[in-house]
Parts: sequence; structure tokens; C-alpha cells
Amino acid sequence: MNYAALWFKNSISRRNAKDQFEKFGHLLKWTRSKENILDAGCGEGSVTREILYPLVKNHVHKIVAVDKCDGMISFAKEHNQVEEIDYQIMDLMDEAQVSKAANRFGHIFSIHLSHWIPDTRTLLNGFHKMLKPNGQIFVTGFLDLYMNHVFKKQFKEGKWTKYIPAEPIFANYTENPLEYFENLLADLGYKLDGYDHEEKLFHIEHFTDFVSTVLSMYKYLERLPAVLQEEFYQEHLRISKEISTYSGEPDKYLLYYKPFTLLATKIK
Ligand SMILES: C[S@@+](CC[C@H](N)C(=O)[O-])C[C@H]1O[C@@H](n2cnc3c(N)ncnc32)[C@H](O)[C@@H]1O
Repeated sequence: MNYAALWFKNSISRRNAKDQFEKFGHLLKWTRSKENILDAGCGEGSVTREILYPLVKNHVHKIVAVDKCDGMISFAKEHNQVEEIDYQIMDLMDEAQVSKAANRFGHIFSIHLSHWIPDTRTLLNGFHKMLKPNGQIFVTGFLDLYMNHVFKKQFKEGKWTKYIPAEPIFANYTENPLEYFENLLADLGYKLDGYDHEEKLFHIEHFTDFVSTVLSMYKYLERLPAVLQEEFYQEHLRISKEISTYSGEPDKYLLYYKPFTLLATKIK
């Protein structure tokens, strides 16, 4: 299945990225000279081209937009190419690849990536390495994901634990995310410039496609035998529907999300 094309069809990323940039864009600090910026976990590139690029185009030499999934990068190159955007395959958790990009970027944007990475310290430490001195990160993602609740229900019975290791799937920003980020960022050599989170209701059209695309980012799904993958997916879809609100229109559901955004500057 072409998940990049399905992701492109769902507009929740674009809507949320736009909202977060409108709210926090004024905290971005630019110098007079043009710089290279990194879009970490760019997916199929629509947020990079439609939302990020217009915001930063007067300040950039190049946007290096990376994703570890080659399907996402080929889709981005085909559908979201702009001269100033350079799409590349990169695993942001790979130390060697991060070291190669050390000290290269004035800003790093991470849009809807970080909650997918349980090891937040390594991710933010990698960003720190790739930033120039006084460079800034803009991280936006989600706290308390609906999917986490779905997984908890799925794993409660033990049916899937034979095949899938019981290890964290998402980042855990604790009960007090602001305090968690403040401490971690200070420890890594950043100064926090701004943080906020809120609860928002999203109307999701094409809910079935949405759930399968989000689930495709779950790395252990392919560890299941093919016949069980379908069963896992159907169960996941059923529970996702149970915990959301049906809108009354075909395949359209309402989901609560808690988006957060943080900005921080590399000071050490
Ligand atoms: C939810 S999507 C967000 C894509 C895009 N930024 C957006 O907002 O629409 C998260 C992306 O992060 C990528 N990703 C996850 N872990 C990664 C890693 N370690 N290195 C690079 N990309 C990663 C996934 O392949 C996926 O395309």
C-alpha cells in the first residue's frame, strides 16, 4: 500500500502544523544571513512544502528534509519538490548519520515526529549536535496519543505479546511535560524559549485510511505473520472507532489530541 499517498490525503498534519506555526512562529530568531535548516521526519513532504517553506523561505539557503522511510522520500521528491528543498533518506537515531551532519543547521524543525521516538534524550541530543551554536529547535508533537490507548487495550490480553516485544512505543513526557522538557533541555545544553500544550478536537475524514497510515509507522507490525497483520489491523481499527466519536457522516470521526510545541536555543 502507498502509505505516503494516504498520508498526503489526510490533512490533520497540515492543519496542526499551521496552527502551531501561527501561535509560536514569533519566537523563532533569525539572523541576517541565510542558513540551512533541517526538517526532521518530513514524511511525504506536504508539510515541508506547504507550511514550513513559506514560513522560512526568506531566511534559508536550503531546507534539508529527511525521513528514514524511502517511500516517503520518493513521494516527496515526486510531489513536493521545490528548488530550495533537498529531500534525503536519514535515520535521526543513527549516531553516524547524525555526526556527519554535525554543526550544520541554524534551525531544526521536528513536526509530528518526536512522540514516535521513545528515547527523547537521544533524539534531542542529536538535534543539539546538528545545530550551530545559538541554533534553535522547533518541536511539535502530541502528548497522550489516542493510539497509545488503543495499543494498551490490544496488549492487555497478551495475544500479541508472543510476537511483539513489550517495549515503549511512544515517548513518555511524564505527567508534567513542561518540567520534563525544562530539565532535559538544560541538561543537554539548551535554553527553553517557549512551551505550551492544549487539547484539540480533530475531525478526521477517511478515518479508515487515517488509522492504517498511522499504524504503518509502527515498526513491529511487520514482525507479525501476514495473516495476523490483518487481524491486528482490524482489531486496532475497531478499538480506534470505539474510543473516538462518530460524526454521523460515513467514515468521519472526531478525535481528541493534545498537541505540544517547544522551542529551545543551543547555548552550550
Ligand atoms: C507522523 S509522520 C510526520 C511527517 C511530517 N512531518 C508531517 O507532519 O506530516 C512521522 C515521520 O517520521 C519518520 N520517522 C520516524 N522515526 C524516524 C527516524 N528515526 N529518523 C527519521 N525519520 C523518522 C516516519 O517515517 C514518518 O514519516
